[in-house]
Amino acid sequence: MVTQFTLEGVRRTIFGQGCASELGAEAKLLGAKSVLVVVDPNVLEAGVAEPALKSLEDAGLETTVFSGLTREPEPAEADEAAQAGRGAMADVVVGIGGGSALDMAKAASVLLTNPGKAVDYVGLDLVKEPGKPVICLPTTAGTGSEVTFTAVFTRRSDKFKGGINGRFLYPHTAMLDPLLTVTCPEYVTATTGIDALTHAMEAYTSLAANPISDNNALIAIALIGENLRKAVANGENLEAREGMLLGAYYAGLALAQAGVGAVHAMAYPLGAFHDVPHGEANAVLLPYVLEYNVMACPDRFADMGRALAELPDSMTERELAEACVEEVYSLGSDVGIPPTLHELKLPKDEIKAWAEKAMTVARPIANNPRKVTAEDLASLYEDAFGV
Ligand SMILES: NC(=O)c1ccc[n+]([C@@H]2O[C@H](COP(=O)([O-])OP(=O)(O)OC[C@H]3O[C@@H](n4cnc5c(N)ncnc54)[C@H](O)[C@@H]3O)[C@@H](O)[C@H]2O)c1
Ligand SMILES: [Fe+2]
Repeated sequence: MVTQFTLEGVRRTIFGQGCASELGAEAKLLGAKSVLVVVDPNVLEAGVAEPALKSLEDAGLETTVFSGLTREPEPAEADEAAQAGRGAMADVVVGIGGGSALDMAKAASVLLTNPGKAVDYVGLDLVKEPGKPVICLPTTAGTGSEVTFTAVFTRRSDKFKGGINGRFLYPHTAMLDPLLTVTCPEYVTATTGIDALTHAMEAYTSLAANPISDNNALIAIALIGENLRKAVANGENLEAREGMLLGAYYAGLALAQAGVGAVHAMAYPLGAFHDVPHGEANAVLLPYVLEYNVMACPDRFADMGRALAELPDSMTERELAEACVEEVYSLGSDVGIPPTLHELKLPKDEIKAWAEKAMTVARPIANNPRKVTAEDLASLYEDAFGV
């Protein structure tokens, strides 16, 4: 059944090794005179952002670099970034980094044109005016933030994780340069890669899926299945880095079009309560939730199994669906994902509180193909503890 859908998204995408050095030209196309660059401090230190920053200078653009952000940032950090942009009268905002830096750039862009602070806009469609145009250069092959309408923030003080969501959050331009991901540490490559796989799989099995998101999701699953092990095995394998960056991009498109599901809802409290990185939380939870969901749509799981791995033609649909879940367990194990939540040293007695919090992550819960209650989520957390 094809339901009604509306598509909207990133306006311009540039892909290829070395394309980051065209950033200055891209900013000029947007009429930039003064550019705010939100860049991850570790990425800055690794030196991979140099060609992009130099291109801004070469293009004669005033450049303000803001790198005072922490991993999975607080909303107040976006306020600081916006303040730096206001001071410089920035007319274009650039994000260089993983989801943390890209989300900060997206939030700073709308704070330059809307009153108030980032916390005021956490929710859906609270941003009323378009922001300054945003160019995103991802350095993890993970979140797909370069194409989504979300900027996620963590408020440690009241254990809350939530996004500024709305159409004005879409970046204008995504610049995908695999060279920027070469310095991404092995474990971050693995966990953010499984985050991307989670986007694709949750979008493909989402109750809000449409034919376009389906296509994007299956391409993403195939690219990640083919390249994640290779990228983790050797971070300098540029072909694998290319495949992963493209895979995460397709997965981001699928997520922006169809949403995510219970894995993401369950990952949020682990981030909010215990600072578990987004990718790591999803990566541990994904196979457990897939196992729970498989009976809701075995045909979709069979499709995903075929995309993810080479499976014998002789398999029945049910066998393929089950093989899909097994393949996700084995991919996670090969790339070093902890097999259970037990390894993350989290307090098991908080399960009930996490389950209740996860139920409040409304859209992912509504999109999940199998209905869930707080009790179901609690028993999924229990399974994921493994002991
Ligand atoms: N906007 C969205 O659509 C969306 C979707 C999913 C998640 N998120 C959010 O994105 C954030 C997570 O982003 P992430 O998973 O990409 O991780 P991240 O941006 O937090 O980066 C993880 C770590 O890797 C380092 N790093 C990243 N790239 C590197 C590189 N090339 N070289 C060296 N070090 C590098 C960073 O410094 C950081 O310490 C979370 O806040 C999450 O909630 C957003
Ligand atoms: Fe995610």
